[in-house]
Amino acid sequence: VMPSGGWWAGTLLLSLLCSGTVAARPKVLILGGTGRIGSACATHILRARCAPIEVIIGGRSHRRAQAALQEIAADARLDKGSSELRFEQCDWTDPDSLSRAIAGVDAVIHTAGPFGEQPMVLRACIDAKTPVYVDLSDPLPYIRAAKAMAADAHAAGTCALICAGAFPGLSNVLAMEAASLLPPGEAVGDIDFSYFTAGLGGSGKINLYITNEGFGTPVPTYREGVLDPSLEAGDQPRKVDFFLDDDDPSAKLVGTRTVWSWPFPEAATVASELSIAGSSSVGMGTAPELWNWIMTLMVRSLPRTIWRSQLFCHSLALFSLPLVSITDRYVGETHAMRIDLTGAKGSRIAAVQAHRSFRRIVGQSAAEFALAMIRHPVSHGLEAAAAANPAGALAAELLPIPPGVWTPEELARDPNERRSLLARMLRVEGTLNFGVRVLEYAPGTPPK
Ligand SMILES: NC(=O)c1ccc[n+]([C@@H]2O[C@H](COP(=O)([O-])OP(=O)(O)OC[C@H]3O[C@@H](n4cnc5c(N)ncnc54)[C@H](OP(=O)(O)O)[C@@H]3O)[C@@H](O)[C@H]2O)c1
Repeated sequence: VMPSGGWWAGTLLLSLLCSGTVAARPKVLILGGTGRIGSACATHILRARCAPIEVIIGGRSHRRAQAALQEIAADARLDKGSSELRFEQCDWTDPDSLSRAIAGVDAVIHTAGPFGEQPMVLRACIDAKTPVYVDLSDPLPYIRAAKAMAADAHAAGTCALICAGAFPGLSNVLAMEAASLLPPGEAVGDIDFSYFTAGLGGSGKINLYITNEGFGTPVPTYREGVLDPSLEAGDQPRKVDFFLDDDDPSAKLVGTRTVWSWPFPEAATVASELSIAGSSSVGMGTAPELWNWIMTLMVRSLPRTIWRSQLFCHSLALFSLPLVSITDRYVGETHAMRIDLTGAKGSRIAAVQAHRSFRRIVGQSAAEFALAMIRHPVSHGLEAAAAANPAGALAAELLPIPPGVWTPEELARDPNERRSLLARMLRVEGTLNFGVRVLEYAPGTPPK
């Protein structure tokens, strides 16, 4: 089943500008915009625009900034000297530097991980009453701390979306779409997320460190409908087909791969959102296959406590970087994901999505989420008018998410919102294939 209809991000920006509720030229700050994923995010926003916008990339290093500005300007086909793109030096761990950078911006997209456990940038955005905040976070303690700020965000008028990358992010929205295809009345039983990234997928070396740290982190899976995390990252191998049809491009490029249990939060947050009755799992695999086996061997030989040492994880990342850089030259940047959902009566739904570049799809997904969020303050501007005339056309334009702190699955609760998000996110440049399909039906259930 393919999502259809919806509108494109550029149209959103245009309607936003025409509404007169935000600055004539919205300012978007991308923290970490000098990095691999942040620069892909900046490029996508600039390419999607159909009206002037100001994209500010934030980072600590001028040297990195110069390279990123050049790459983004070329990829987004900006005129020489365009005022739509600039760099601002900023260290988000320094409160003064951060508050200077976010002052007066309409949206902050935080891509400068790792995210740790405290949402410092979100806190600063709420204090500054920034209208839109989006990040690429994934640690569960961070998500809980961010959700605890929901009332403050609501009071400040900040619309915040966390975990808004490819996985978690797009994967959560796809899972919600898959769940919506269950026959009426059938509850969700099990949900399994599977991911494949060739090497680092074009992302920065910080992701090697984050991967090492993951081995010491409990995997937040559900068992029999209850959250039951266990220290099994890098274990529990299973085979996954990253395609629905044999002629899907991902069948040839990715095919069937082994994935190993991995501590991504959607195994808990989406399972909770869907009130699953059974179990959840999340698995990750990379290429070349050799890396999976080396890491599995290491994780089985070293105690989990070692993987919680920052020094160990940094040293291992530094040691493996030259080797990964060599193998990355041969494996490309391919990304693929698959979500399998089993209904309590046995129905099975599968969703697949694949892209040429992991780095690009993460940046593009964050950009698309942000563009969807930028629309929300416009609807907030309509609230007063709609309250005065609840039966009027304005009420129909109100969108389901008020200010607060949200996850992608919460944003995707509303079927229209979900399908319009998917209509854009599944068709971004570089997408190889996608699909959401009912595989089997519970006896007596008519096919959709
Ligand atoms: N949800 C998903 O799908 C997903 C997938 C993969 C990765 N991620 C997240 O994406 C993040 C970025 O990955 P990447 O590949 O783009 O890494 P990257 O290339 O290393 O980029 C990170 C950028 O952040 C900047 N930065 C780091 N610390 C900063 C600070 N204190 N203040 C301001 N800027 C800072 C760095 O520039 P300077 O060093 O010059 O400051 C760099 O440009 C990762 O940390 C990970 O958490 C999410």
